[in-house]
Parts: sequence; C-alpha cells; structure tokens
Amino acid sequence: MYPLRRNRRLRTNDAIRHLVRETILTPSDFLVPLFVVEGTNVKEEIASMPDYYRLSLDYLEKEVRELWNMGLCAVLLFAKVPEHLKDNEGTEALNPDGLMQRAIKTVKNVCPEMLVMTDVAMDPYSNFGHDGIVANGQILNDETVELLAEMSVSHAKAGADFVAPSDMMDGRILSIRETLEEEGYFNTGIMSYSAKYASAFYGPFRDALDSAPVDLKNVPRDKKTYQMDSANRFEAITETQADIDEGADIVMVKPGLCYLDIVREIRNEVDCPVAVYQVSGEYAMLKAAAEKGWLDHDAVMMEQLIAIKRAGANIIASYFAKDAVRLMG
Ligand code: PBG
Repeated sequence: MYPLRRNRRLRTNDAIRHLVRETILTPSDFLVPLFVVEGTNVKEEIASMPDYYRLSLDYLEKEVRELWNMGLCAVLLFAKVPEHLKDNEGTEALNPDGLMQRAIKTVKNVCPEMLVMTDVAMDPYSNFGHDGIVANGQILNDETVELLAEMSVSHAKAGADFVAPSDMMDGRILSIRETLEEEGYFNTGIMSYSAKYASAFYGPFRDALDSAPVDLKNVPRDKKTYQMDSANRFEAITETQADIDEGADIVMVKPGLCYLDIVREIRNEVDCPVAVYQVSGEYAMLKAAAEKGWLDHDAVMMEQLIAIKRAGANIIASYFAKDAVRLMG
C-alpha cells in the first residue's frame, strides 16, 4: 500500500501552511535596544552596524513614538558615556542627571506606557572597558556588585521599569533585589543576563559605545574571567537557576543563534520568561552578507528570528525589531 502519510499535504499552499504553523512572531515579542548619546540633533550611524544609530535625546523621542506606533512596546537603553566621564569606579553611572537617567525620563515623558529596561553594567563608564572595577589585573566582584545595586536604584528612581544587569558578577541579582526593596522599588523588575557568554559577537556593540577593554598592561584584554565559556552547557543552567533564586523576574541567554541549544535547555528547565539577545555581531554578519548580495536580507532575518522563538525565547532583544515588524505588515 502507498504510504499512509503524505507529509507534503500540510505544505500544499499558504493557507494550509499558515493553519499548521507552530511559531508566529508578533511585535510584542521584541525588545528594542537603543543607543543614546549626548548632544542635540545627533543621529550617527554605527560603522559596524549599518542602519543602526546612536541617538541624542531629541531623536530618542521621535524614535520611541515611532516604535510605539508600530506596536513595539519595550526598549532596552544603552548610554554612550563621554570619555572624560569614565573612571575605574563607575562614578558617572550614579549621576542622577547622567545620560542614562535623562534617557529614561525622556522615554517615559513622551510615551509613559513604553516599557523601559536599562542595561546595568560598568563597561560604558569604565576607563578600562570592563564590567567591573579593575585592580591588580583582576576584575573585583563584590565591590562591583555594590555599584551595580546603586546603579539599579538610580535607574529605578529615574523611572526604569526593569533593570537588566549584563555584567556576570556573582551575587549581583540578590544584592540588586535587596537594595531595590530597601529603597521601596518593589515593582522594579530584574531581567538578568543570566547565561551570558564571553563572545566575539559583541564587537560592533563595543564600537557603538566605544566600550571595548583597553590594551594596557595589567588590564585583562577579554571578559573571560566573568562571562561564560562558550563550551559550557550545564553551567548555563546553574547560572540561570541561581539568578532566579536570587530574585530575577526574567532570565536571558546571550548571544542568540550560536546558543539556541542553551535557549531550549533553559526553556525546559525554568518557569520564568526567557529572553534571548540576538547581538550586534549577528546583526552585522547579515547586513554585510546582504550588502554583498550573498544573502536575502529579509528572508534570512525572519528565518533567524523564527528560529530564536522556536528554540524557546519568550522575548527577543534584536536590532532587527523594526525591520521585522515592517515585514509583518
Ligand atoms: C555590556 C553589554 C554588552 C552587550 C550588552 N551589554 C557588551 C559586553 O558585554 O561586552 C552586547 C550586546 C551586543 O553585542 O549587541 N555589559
């Protein structure tokens, strides 16, 4: 007898393919990363991230309105800190009138319902380009955690809905949670970059913020003593579970595409929402290949985003968010 199953029946035309489709992207899946700079009327394209910009606060207002009108309701803010304000203690990170704090207020002012998340880490503020305080060739853990907790309160005060610690210091989630509670910010959420790998895919982001580790004697050139080893899978579960136990509301895997096995693993293990960060290098690779005419930009972009969601992401932080939503029509 002829095979009982003919799997191609479910692929005959668009109507049936749509009917049986298992994974569907919507605008509410996305978290939009935004880079802010000092000045007015500044919209600078990032060299290694074509079509992506650093925005001054007046442009940020426009951008946020546009995102909201497109159905994109969550942003993740990063500040490019002027060189002369960087030091080894992250002093500027606590300035109530700092660029990040003003950016938070700007977004909340033009669009109070927009969900505002903020990157909490020292690197944009560090003269060494590290996510922690540097001493004797080491990145100090506990001293850095203290700063991160204060930084989180400063963002919450300015109006952030969620803080997103991206530093990978040990014990920071507990310390941030306790400090937020002590200061009365019970409703400020924590999205922890819980399984964040020491990845070479962050290069263009470090160009965007001018935040790469510096080339100096006695300063580590990479972040391998705090970010995870890309060879490790079980460790991702340990890290993520620890962050949940310490009070994280949302956990994250970063980067995206090369780590989808980790995403699935974590989605199966934990009950809280899982975010995935499709990082700057992933964006840059596709832009470059498309520019050369070697890949179909839109088709590959959608395939990658679907793959991230299919792997188990509930939230996708992506520089492609606007392009993807436009295509969804
Ligand atoms: C800061 C931070 C980084 C990214 C997000 N937050 C860079 C790093 O850890 O070196 C990378 C994002 C991207 O590459 O798109 N700690």
